[in-house]
Amino acid sequence: MGDDRKVFIEESLDAAAEYAAELLGTIACEATTARGVFNLALAGGTTPHRLHTELAAPSKIESVPWHATRIFFGDERDVPYDHADSNYRRAQKALLDSVPVPPQNVHAMAADGSDLDLAARQYAECITRIVPAGDNGVPAFDLILLGMGADGHTASLFPGTPALDETDKLVVGQLVPVLGRRRMTFTYPLINAAKNVMFLICGADKAEAARRVLGDDPAVAGQLPAGRVAPANGRLFFILDREAARLLPR
Ligand code: 6PG
Repeated sequence: MGDDRKVFIEESLDAAAEYAAELLGTIACEATTARGVFNLALAGGTTPHRLHTELAAPSKIESVPWHATRIFFGDERDVPYDHADSNYRRAQKALLDSVPVPPQNVHAMAADGSDLDLAARQYAECITRIVPAGDNGVPAFDLILLGMGADGHTASLFPGTPALDETDKLVVGQLVPVLGRRRMTFTYPLINAAKNVMFLICGADKAEAARRVLGDDPAVAGQLPAGRVAPANGRLFFILDREAARLLPR
């Protein structure tokens, strides 16, 4: 997989978000031309949030066939939909309220209930109903957006958590000790079944994790959750700003 990934380094967060929006639009048009729909999973975090606001810019709205787009979320915090920390709410305010995606095509994760395992199972069933399966029988998103934390986590796949070892379930809920909070998250079986995965990674605090994930040693990359994202039959894109890329070989 390593040599199939494509790495783009942009001058700034804004430039990285602009390029990511352009690439997302291309992927969206490819998907809708080929299959009539665009199945997209959004990411939480401040860097993916900048992409959301970029996509909502009046000059960019037409670049995505929103009427044919189905929106899911790669992870969610254990808060209600209207909570400031909700990935759904942040995406709704930054993007979904500004684009013509049919409301019934937006599928939020319910990660704040008492039975997180049941909610995760139900979300996986929703994905399975809506997103067509690839050759391996797993729903194949047209695009899964991901951010990366300074510790190398992605979605809510945090170092040392049980979700990293999930090989069957597509979505799981788990306590994340470092946060002291529960999260719901896509697992590697679902992420690695995608046709396209796009990381958007910006900021100096990500440089060391980016160096390990994008280095030439798979064993080093595999020590971090983000380093284990490897779409079996899909394309893997990394879009970084110069600060996050500063430790990468020239
Ligand atoms: C979340 C995300 C998480 C995020 C990274 C990067 O819900 O927070 O899914 O994986 O994408 O932590 O976030 P920043 O861009 O804010 O560093």
